[in-house]
Amino acid sequence: MTQVYRAYAPASAANLSVGFDLLGAALKPVDGKILGDEIFIKEGTYGSGCILRQSGHYASKLPADPKKNIVYRAYELYALEMQRQGRALLDVEIELRKNLPVCSGLGSSAASVVAGVLAIDAVHGSVLGESGQLDLMGALEGEISGSVHYDNVAPCFFGGLQLIVGEGGIISRTLPDFENWLWVSCFPGIKISTNQARSILPKQYERAVTINFGRRLAAFVDACHRGDDKLAGTLLTDVIAEPYRASLIPGFEDARRYGAGHGALATGISGSGSAIFSVYEDEVAALEAKEWLERNFIANEDGFCHVCKIDRRGAYVEKV
Ligand code: HSE
Repeated sequence: MTQVYRAYAPASAANLSVGFDLLGAALKPVDGKILGDEIFIKEGTYGSGCILRQSGHYASKLPADPKKNIVYRAYELYALEMQRQGRALLDVEIELRKNLPVCSGLGSSAASVVAGVLAIDAVHGSVLGESGQLDLMGALEGEISGSVHYDNVAPCFFGGLQLIVGEGGIISRTLPDFENWLWVSCFPGIKISTNQARSILPKQYERAVTINFGRRLAAFVDACHRGDDKLAGTLLTDVIAEPYRASLIPGFEDARRYGAGHGALATGISGSGSAIFSVYEDEVAALEAKEWLERNFIANEDGFCHVCKIDRRGAYVEKV
């Protein structure tokens, strides 16, 4: 019987307010629900190329032609890599279960890219190795968003809280995260493209702002290593993007006010939005915040809210 593989890649929140383009965390709902993309793959019949089927709750929001999907593009780039390495390319049948909404701020494209590369490589015997897989994932993310940034791909792939390094051959480092933090992650149902959200940011920042940014990010990383959750929580503020992006997200200021008044350590924009996150230590307060956000922040039936922990496992592929 033909072997089927299942790849799973979790949702992620990039930036985390304090680390624009440089921090990201993988998320998993505490109630065990799936918050990530899944791919099922098996070898196809000879000569059929890549047959891609799109299913799942958010499949209807994707371009109807599967050849326009990033997973199909992943197969094309994988084919080039196999050619470069002088290896045989297999025909594949893929089902993408699109569980994450696109343009949501939850690393939806990164999840498809990461699951796609893992799955395609698994069928071929996982010949790329971790760095080859990451190179391909970075190239694909770059094609979608216009520039290569790993602040969704790295947490999605490795799991945990990731600090982008980008020097000395190191893409990212896992930071110690806080076991007691609950991340209430809410997508209101409104699409915001990362390209558009980047285009409204200033090209340059004043010196005082850049020093503030560097100081806060360095202090946050230090607080993670020291296990100082109180200090880390107070450092989760954004001087780079949020002042310009907050107005793109209806109800964001109200949600932040609610959080501040109900025990949230911080509230910020998840990636480039429109999802937001609030960090709580108290489980009851986190569940109450979820209910409040469901009633007051979600704008349409595409929206949802989950109380999450950091997903330390990240993406994986398994035989099914
Ligand atoms: N860090 C990016 C941004 C989004 O906020 O524009 C995710 O890569």
